[in-house]
Amino acid sequence: MIPGPSECFQEVLSSMSEPPPAHYMDDFVAIYDEVITLLKQVFGTRGDVFLITGSGSAGLEASITSLIEPGEKVISDEYYLKFLQAIGAKPIMLQRGRGEAITADMIEKILRREQDICAIAVAHNDTAQGLTNPIDEISEVAKKYSVLLIIDAVSSFGGIPIKFDDWGIDICSSASQKALSIPPGLVPIAVSRYAWEKIMNRKNPIPSRYLNLLTYREAHEQYGSWHPTPFTTSPTLVKALLVSLRKLMAEGLNNVYERHAKTAMAVREAVKSAGFKLLVMDEKYSSNTVTAVRWPDGYDYRKFWNLLYRKYNVMIGNPPAQWEAWPIFKDSFRIGHMGRTAMRDYVLSTISAIEKALIDINYPIKKGVMTEMVEAILT
Ligand SMILES: Cc1ncc(COP(=O)(O)O)c(C=O)c1O
Repeated sequence: MIPGPSECFQEVLSSMSEPPPAHYMDDFVAIYDEVITLLKQVFGTRGDVFLITGSGSAGLEASITSLIEPGEKVISDEYYLKFLQAIGAKPIMLQRGRGEAITADMIEKILRREQDICAIAVAHNDTAQGLTNPIDEISEVAKKYSVLLIIDAVSSFGGIPIKFDDWGIDICSSASQKALSIPPGLVPIAVSRYAWEKIMNRKNPIPSRYLNLLTYREAHEQYGSWHPTPFTTSPTLVKALLVSLRKLMAEGLNNVYERHAKTAMAVREAVKSAGFKLLVMDEKYSSNTVTAVRWPDGYDYRKFWNLLYRKYNVMIGNPPAQWEAWPIFKDSFRIGHMGRTAMRDYVLSTISAIEKALIDINYPIKKGVMTEMVEAILT
């Protein structure tokens, strides 16, 4: 028998503590609403949260295009730079060394030097460099100088704590495929009332229809009870997101963050026990969702990466071709440990494969040293 439209959601609906309110026109809305409620808990906000269909970059573009106008000055990192350039804003690029976190001091120096800066746009977790920027401290500077704060939480959301309201973030977006552990295609995005004020007082209309936060707000206000998004949203992905978020809540957000912290520590200690150096300059900024490691001179990285992938079935970040294409990845590799991979079994099998591949390329390492370190930390 072919399931009807309502039956497609039966499994999820039957697990809801309360039946969907009678005013909901269809069952998808009940699922969507629960997703938004749970996303708000992960963001740490009582304000507006929407779901945009697209990859993480759709969230970055929606943030910049909706909030910033041509000619406006924004302090930016590498992640937001091109989105700012695309709308004719004036990005002030943060200059820092490789593996160096963005600090409140760095930002304050620019704010003292430059006039008329309207926002700071930086990543919470810098996936490329395996480090987490101190957004709590950066937010203090943003408040002191009354500038808006735009945060990319693509690889932190659901793995590293975010306090949207407490930190006074104005727009924060993520992506479904990182610590939420579902396929790419959904962008959770939170918007503060200060961001709305700036959007409502724009001199020029937002130069986008699809990646326009007002479109999302209007849809929700005008027909939220039967079509909460302005455009087609993948019901499959929203269902998957609900399952993922319910798992996070069942484990408890603090436990989830602790699990990430502990697995990250195990990965760091394991690679250090093999004599590797982390890319992050100051370990207090090391990321709990991804570890970036320097590759030492004199060993065949291409052979190592291919052995890992082809012989041991483990894919790590920075395939050899990426070294040439993007200098930020040169002479380093990355191990992801986010969402469902932030668990002992995944970490242990990954580290064990790395150890074997290192032995295969004659890297001087004592068999078992890395895996024993993981086991010692994650038992
Ligand atoms: C911190 C960060 N921001 C933005 C992006 C871009 O996301 P997407 O490739 O999903 O568009 C990524 C991708 O991995 C990322 O790690």
